Amino acid sequence: MRAIVRDIYGDADVLHLADMPKPTIKPQEVLVRVHAAGVDRGAWHAMTGLPLIARLGFGLRRPRNRIPGLDLAGVVEAVGAEVTDFKPGDEVFGEGSSSWAEYARAKPHRLLHKPPHLTFPQAAVIPTSGATALHMLLLPTALGSSSPSSTAAGPRSPSSTTHGPDSPSPTTHGPDSPSPTTHGPDSPSSTAHGSGSPSSTGPGSPSSTVHGLGSASRVPQPPGSTPPSANDHDSSSSEAEEPGVGPWAVGGTASAGSGREVLVIGAGGGVGSFAVLLAKANGDVVTAVCSTGKVEAVRGFGAARVIDYTREPLTGSYDLIVDIAGNRSLSQLRGLLKPRGVLSIAGGEQGGRFFGGLERNLKALSVSPFLKQTLRAPIVIAKRDDLAALTSIRSPLQRTYPLEEASNAMHSLATGQIAGKVALTL
Ligand SMILES: NC(=O)c1ccc[n+]([C@@H]2O[C@H](COP(=O)([O-])OP(=O)(O)OC[C@H]3O[C@@H](n4cnc5c(N)ncnc54)[C@H](OP(=O)(O)O)[C@@H]3O)[C@@H](O)[C@H]2O)c1
Repeated sequence: MRAIVRDIYGDADVLHLADMPKPTIKPQEVLVRVHAAGVDRGAWHAMTGLPLIARLGFGLRRPRNRIPGLDLAGVVEAVGAEVTDFKPGDEVFGEGSSSWAEYARAKPHRLLHKPPHLTFPQAAVIPTSGATALHMLLLPTALGSSSPSSTAAGPRSPSSTTHGPDSPSPTTHGPDSPSPTTHGPDSPSSTAHGSGSPSSTGPGSPSSTVHGLGSASRVPQPPGSTPPSANDHDSSSSEAEEPGVGPWAVGGTASAGSGREVLVIGAGGGVGSFAVLLAKANGDVVTAVCSTGKVEAVRGFGAARVIDYTREPLTGSYDLIVDIAGNRSLSQLRGLLKPRGVLSIAGGEQGGRFFGGLERNLKALSVSPFLKQTLRAPIVIAKRDDLAALTSIRSPLQRTYPLEEASNAMHSLATGQIAGKVALTL
């Protein structure tokens, strides 16, 4: 089968097309004919082997797993003997293993049937970035798989997709990734992607396809949940009686229409675009931070206010800060939080070469128990409940590249050219 491979760590030039054996599945796995695959920062970490500590998982001298990719969308080719949720011919999306290829393995609990209104590329970019945004925003996955209290500091519910502070690897992405800082294609659970996307430019196409946003809609309400009211923000819960605390806060009940003041730093990227879209759909008032070239796109995602960090300082006072980029100090970020506000740290690329900023996450987790503010740095693993919650918002897909142009796709991500998400198509 056709696949993107790399045999050494390096920049996007190490990626090349190769003929690889079709994967074989275990009894509890699904084989997906990949039509589109997501491109994200985790793949960049696995490609470069940075930060260096990530190589403990990816392979010390060279990548252990030759085919990158985690997110995918495609058609079920075959199922293992123990799989009952899917059958050959089903259109699915989710996280798999080595997805930048014609075929990829996936575990059923990390897949969802693809809704018809989403194209394969739109579906393929959802899992990693979308689920991360969902959990950083303390929104329960369409309900109940992870309550705000379980995502922040409490024990993981069996179906929760977020790792709490007691996780040994606060910034690792992907459940199977052995690396503490990256969500990468080298993860044994990483994925590859397929072909036939309606929006694919097709193999060999010299140019990629630019996508507009789809129609907006709200995040689905969890089964059995009480519809939020305009007064949810003034709930009579004990937390809500204190300044800066809403019913959505850690330990409370997340709800739509809460009117939270949310700051999203890094709003022009993969996680950030989903965060703005989700927060807007949830009824939050979003202030988004990005560079000059992404201001209009980020406004289009639904931000009420956009701060161009290259031209003005970050100001305001927020119930929730989703910190995705910039590696700003905890003291600066806490200064932008209300007295009982919540800081959710996703990551950031400006950390050191060895730890990549992991120290800041660890510090946040260690000081949080002593503060009124809550500092959290969850590791998010996309599961089926997350995927379901993410199918009803607009797609932030901005651009697709044919599989063989994976190095161009990665280059565009690494150089900050993309406002939103990028997908590979087959
Ligand atoms: N904890 C988890 O489970 C988890 C899951 C997924 C990803 N992550 C991490 O989250 C981070 C972001 O991932 P991603 O996929 O969204 O990456 P991405 O698509 O590359 O987006 C990062 C964004 O940050 C912006 N940015 C860069 N410097 C900035 C600064 N100083 N201030 C504000 N914005 C800045 C970039 O564009 P502009 O500078 O042009 O605005 C870019 O849009 C990565 O470190 C990744 O490893 C963590």
